[in-house]
Amino acid sequence: MKNFEFKNPTKIIFGKGQIEKLNDEIPENAKILMLYGGGSIKRNGIYEQVTKALEKFEVIEFGGIPANPEYSVLMEALEVIKNEKIDFLLAVGGGSVIDGTKFLSSAALYEGETPWDILTQRIPTQTGMPFGTVLTLPATGSEMNSGAVITREETKEKLGMGGPGLFPVFSILDPEVIHSIPSRQLVNGITDAFTHVLEQYMTYPSGAFLQDRFAESILQTLIEVGPKVLNDPTDYTAASNFMWSCTMALNGLIQKGVPTDWAVHAMGHELTALYGIDHARTLAVIAPSHYKFNFESKKEKLAQYAERVWNIKEGSLDHKASAAIERTETFFQELGIETRLSAYTEDYHGTAEEISKRFTERGWLGLGEHQNLKPEDVEKIVKMTY
Ligand code: NZQ
Ligand code: ZN
Repeated sequence: MKNFEFKNPTKIIFGKGQIEKLNDEIPENAKILMLYGGGSIKRNGIYEQVTKALEKFEVIEFGGIPANPEYSVLMEALEVIKNEKIDFLLAVGGGSVIDGTKFLSSAALYEGETPWDILTQRIPTQTGMPFGTVLTLPATGSEMNSGAVITREETKEKLGMGGPGLFPVFSILDPEVIHSIPSRQLVNGITDAFTHVLEQYMTYPSGAFLQDRFAESILQTLIEVGPKVLNDPTDYTAASNFMWSCTMALNGLIQKGVPTDWAVHAMGHELTALYGIDHARTLAVIAPSHYKFNFESKKEKLAQYAERVWNIKEGSLDHKASAAIERTETFFQELGIETRLSAYTEDYHGTAEEISKRFTERGWLGLGEHQNLKPEDVEKIVKMTY
């Protein structure tokens, strides 16, 4: 096991009817900017629950943060924060609203001229404006981590940011919010969380037995409850296990002491930036080809995953490892996800070259757990997804 430090300061308030606890979690004299997305919270009752809980506070609202939070929209919210002298942010939404709020938390205290530099220059946020979240969509884990991904339509870029100052102060996780989520987004949530675990697990054995079993148990739970949540989003047992699995998949715990990959996300973000494909679906497109391309360096963990998660126990190590890749792709397909790039866009010729060029220009010359995946390898992997 590698050396590690672990600190996660986010307070989780989990369960039915917990949104009313907002009242106790926000500092008394705070002036709040409440941020939300395209309006789902106004149709499913979450907006009423939140505004009722905030009755005693001064609250300004900013709605309209789109999926894949857009820089130009967030810059409008930044104006509101400055003009209204806001000192606390509350995100009510999924990963996009929470990530947008993290960007604002950082940008509000940023002393440079152009907040976009936080992303392009990878400036870590040591201190941000305090913020809390009410999670409406289990998927990204953003509610309990310190990362965010921001999109800029103008340049067709999607870039990450983060830092110890970007953990939410608290996050309220009420599994009943799942009732109103369309199945397309539930499927995205299952797939995103599943791939988060794979990114932190599908590397090489590192003697971290407990982390491996944490990761395998999250995968097993998602496989068990995913179809149940899709079949009946009001099944509270399934919903609560689904929600907590998504949070645990990316709150930092399972990546401690182990090598991590994250190349699937790096390539996937480009597919969203170029074609607007849902984040989770880009992962289902890239992951099978990525694991096939890197088969030799990942086969021990692939075979362990085959045995422990999918119960594939017959045959040689190579056989189990390659069966695991196939089973994973089938799992995504069973959820209703297309796993070829050509199913999403007719315009895919040249994608691999474009992504490889972008990575070269950004100096991303060695991705993956061995930091040896070169832009020309990325090009080959993306071509395999056509
Ligand atoms: O905008 P509204 O109207 O609220 O509708 C949203 C949106 O259309 C809807 N929705 C959310 N909760 C709902 C609901 N509809 C009905 N009932 C509810 N309770 O769902 C749609 C998608 O929402 P979005 O927030 O975009 O989805 P998700 O949570 O999957 O977030 C995706 C974003 O997070 C980033 C992705 O790149 C993408 O930009 N990620 C963030 C990560 C992080 N911070 O750690 C890690 C991830 O790997 C990921 O990159
Ligand atoms: Zn993800």
